[in-house]
Amino acid sequence: MRANRPDGPAILFLCLGNICRSPLAEAAARVAFANAGISATLDSAGTGDWHVGRPPDRRAQAEARRRGTDISDLRGRQLAAEDFYRFDLILAADANNLREARALAPPDATARLRLMLDLVPGRRGESVTDPYYGADDGFAETWADVSAVAAALVAERSSG
Ligand code: 4NP
Repeated sequence: MRANRPDGPAILFLCLGNICRSPLAEAAARVAFANAGISATLDSAGTGDWHVGRPPDRRAQAEARRRGTDISDLRGRQLAAEDFYRFDLILAADANNLREARALAPPDATARLRLMLDLVPGRRGESVTDPYYGADDGFAETWADVSAVAAALVAERSSG
């Protein structure tokens, strides 16, 4: 991550629809960075365009509320080429998201691209649980995954 941004790291969380995993990842990171007193630019996007302009899935909103944070004002957007310059780090929820992002990345992209869980010790190569087609308790598992990612980002930042 570039260390010289005055307003902290710029990190984009990426999934497929931008209504479940990446909004929760953005929310968990907002909470973790705020609690650590570290400023950061945080955003999320999807590789797909089905949910552009829509708020997060109701179940994701409910999970965020249970964890004390409100994501109702987030709106879905699709990953764009300019994101590869605006962000230092783009973190994909799963291998498909990572592959799609690599395909879209301009040759002179400045953002680094990784899987979210690659940052979490012992979970390299794993995907964040995709709760979209599952039972409601999948969202608690997703929250646990993205909270671990957020904690790793803050730890990396604090120790640097
Ligand atoms: P997300 O979940 O990528 O975590 O936001 C999904 C959202 C929408 C769809 C699949 C997954 N979909 O097929 O529309």
